[in-house]
Amino acid sequence: MRNTIVSRRSVVRAGLGVSLAASMPVRSLLAAPMTADFPLRAEPGRAALAGKAYPQTTVWSYNGQVPGPEIRVRQGERLKFTVENRLDEETTVHSHGLRLPNAMDGVPHLTQKPIAPGETFTYEFDVPDAGTYWYHPHTNSAEQIGRGLSGPMIVEEREPIEVDRDITWVLDDWRLLSNAAISDDFGNRMDAGMAGRLGNTVTINGQMPDSFEVRAGERIRLRLINTANARIFGLDFGAHRPRIIAYDGQPVEPHGPANGLVVLGPAMRIDLIIDMANESGQSFTVVDRFYPSQTYRLIDIVYSDKPALRARPPVFSIRLLANTMPEPDIARAKRHEVAFGGGMMGGGMMGGGMMGRMMGGGKMWTINGVAFEGPVMEPLLTLEQGRSHVLTLRNETAWYHPIHLHGHSFRVISRNGRQTPYREWQDTVLIAPRENADIAFVADNPGDWMFHCHIAEHLAAGMMGIVRVS
Ligand code: C2O
Ligand code: CU
Repeated sequence: MRNTIVSRRSVVRAGLGVSLAASMPVRSLLAAPMTADFPLRAEPGRAALAGKAYPQTTVWSYNGQVPGPEIRVRQGERLKFTVENRLDEETTVHSHGLRLPNAMDGVPHLTQKPIAPGETFTYEFDVPDAGTYWYHPHTNSAEQIGRGLSGPMIVEEREPIEVDRDITWVLDDWRLLSNAAISDDFGNRMDAGMAGRLGNTVTINGQMPDSFEVRAGERIRLRLINTANARIFGLDFGAHRPRIIAYDGQPVEPHGPANGLVVLGPAMRIDLIIDMANESGQSFTVVDRFYPSQTYRLIDIVYSDKPALRARPPVFSIRLLANTMPEPDIARAKRHEVAFGGGMMGGGMMGGGMMGRMMGGGKMWTINGVAFEGPVMEPLLTLEQGRSHVLTLRNETAWYHPIHLHGHSFRVISRNGRQTPYREWQDTVLIAPRENADIAFVADNPGDWMFHCHIAEHLAAGMMGIVRVS
């Protein structure tokens, strides 16, 4: 699989691409807010994932689209959508990152009965916080997400910051065969025990990206959403100086990315502000450098010939207003230890023939020594409602894990015992091999919440548990 991304892309490069007109005012791109009941059909569909030189790919889609339609509301509004299951298997829809009532969380058997083929289920809840979120199934997740079921969910600020364009890039990664069909080797043990299902075709908004047209001088808010099963992205914007204004939808003190790389594990989102400070007619390559042996060109930023929109970067503020999470009291917080274990040992990339440690029951990963044997288990932790908690998350494995807690956002307060510079709010924290991270939050949302690695193959192979808030 190693070089297919690069070679395939170079073959199909010409004439493809996500290119958006540069001068459209931002308001016209914002959908009318959805307060009515929005229909979301999970159904088979077809998508030109690999470009015109290849046959269309049969996918599982929402409303025939990959990614699914953007669900967009304003902060404080009520969101309502009805899922109709036109697949041949059960499904549910989880609104990832939203702090919603437990019964609307979309976890089969734990928070609702799965939606059987032919049936519908209506999700309805208030949306307290602005930000960039996404939705996806929580049943047979590795296959359902891997075949295309996911979509962006945007909650607009009551008082948005001023930008020229507000753009969403849904980054996805597909494992395609040479005829562009999705490889059906879901659930294999190599993927499960190592890095997860890495694909060979990266798309932005469901297309092989080629170029992104911009106008000199414009300020863009770029919302990145990683919907891949397993791929971690590390984007290098070259001559541009992106500033991170939100992680997982939650405002953060604006800052440049560490080491110049914008890193997103599966399920994570980052909002960037990029001032297009170069000159008309120039073009720049965005490179994904996360896996050092597999860097590739993601997309080119191409400056149109139009005259610059403004002579120097605008002065208006890029700082987002805080969301509504209560501030954890770290000094008085109750402390908990959570250790992540398992997986094949020995590091290295997909090598073939690698022997590793295997566990019983087909499960390969654990949290505090227990592999999840769903659909419902005794909670791994019970957190007293209304009180502050600090969880020390220890990655005792040789692999990265993006760890996600449902129903809450938490501050990442330290890594390996060192304070994080921004104490960022997140709902999914990427933890490197052998790294520890401390997260802090007020357990203010009652219910049984999933807590798991978001590499879909890891969660299927046991790296999942339940956190009870009561
Ligand atoms: Cu995207 Cu259990 O979550
Ligand atoms: Cu994992």
